[in-house]
Amino acid sequence: MNRREFLALMSSAALAAAMGCRSQQHPPRDALITPKPGGRKILIAHRGASAYAPENTLPAYDLAIKQGADYVEQDLQISKDGVLMCGHDVELTRVSNIADVFPDRFTEAKVKGKTVRKWWIYNFTVAELKQLDFGSHLDPKFKGTQIPTWQEAIDLIRGRAGLFPETKGPELYGKLGFNMEQMVVDVLNRNGLNDKSNHATPVFIQSFSRPSLERVNALIGSRWPKLQLALVGKPFTDEMMDETKQYATAIGPAKNDVTAALVQKAHAKGLSVVTWTFSSREPSQYGSVANEMRHYLYDLGADALFTNNPDQFPREANS
Ligand code: G3P
Ligand code: CA
Repeated sequence: MNRREFLALMSSAALAAAMGCRSQQHPPRDALITPKPGGRKILIAHRGASAYAPENTLPAYDLAIKQGADYVEQDLQISKDGVLMCGHDVELTRVSNIADVFPDRFTEAKVKGKTVRKWWIYNFTVAELKQLDFGSHLDPKFKGTQIPTWQEAIDLIRGRAGLFPETKGPELYGKLGFNMEQMVVDVLNRNGLNDKSNHATPVFIQSFSRPSLERVNALIGSRWPKLQLALVGKPFTDEMMDETKQYATAIGPAKNDVTAALVQKAHAKGLSVVTWTFSSREPSQYGSVANEMRHYLYDLGADALFTNNPDQFPREANS
C-alpha cells in the first residue's frame, strides 16, 4: 500500500469512527452470492444475540449488531391479522406467558395419542401478541420484552447490518390463506430494500422449504440471494446441490453434516456454505464455541455460520 492509499484508508476509518458508523463491517452486498474461499467470513446472529437476550426480540437484534454481526436472522411467523412477526415457534408457550394471559384461547391437539393444549401464533392478533412477555423465559431481567413485528425489526436493523429472514411454516400459512413469500417480498419492497445501491442493508432469504424458496425465486429472481437449509442428518448430495443452484445461492447444512469435501464440492458448483447453529449453551468437543466456529470456518472452509454468540465469532486475517 502506498502512502496515498494508506492516508485515504486512515481518513475513511477516522470518518467512520467519528460518525459512529460501522460501514467497514457491513457485509459486502455480494457476500455469499458467490463463494470466496479464503475471503471474509460472514457472521449471522442466530435469532439475534440469543445467548444473551431473548431470541427474536429487539434487544437480541440490537445486541447482535453491537457485537459485530454482519447479518441478523429473523425467523418469521404470521399473526391472525396477517402481519409478519418475528419468532421461531408457531406455538408460543416455550417463549411467552401466553397460557397465563389467554388461558382459554388454546387449541386442542393430539400428540402421541394424548390431548394437549396449543397456543398457535396465527390465532392471535398483533395487539394481543403485544400483551405478552417474550423475555422472562430467558431471564427475569427481560420481563416485559415484546414480540417484534418484522417491520419493527427492519426499522432497528436497517443501515446497521443485513437482514436474514427465514420463512417458517410456509405451507401451513398457505393453508391458512396467507402467501408468505409474497408478504416477505411486499415488506422488502415497501422498505426500499430492493434498491441495489442500498449497501448498508443487504438481504438474504432462507428456508428449509424448497417450494418456498422457489416461490420467492419466481417473484424476485436473483434480486435477493437465497439460502436452502437442510434438516439435521440430511447432507446435501450432488443432485441436491445441482437442483439448489437453479433457485438459490447457498446451501445450509447443519454443522454435523459439514465436511471439507462437501464445502469443496459446493464451492466448485458456485454455492456458498452457511452452517448452523453455534452456541455457548451447547457442549462442544472443541472446548469453546469460538474454537468450534474456528474449526468450521477455517479448517472445513464454511463461508458463514449462524451463532447465538456473535461476540465469540473468530475473525482472522482478511476475515
Ligand atoms: O435458519 C438457520 C437455523 O436457524 C436453522 O435452525 O431451527 O433455529 O431455525 P432454526
Ligand atoms: Ca432460523
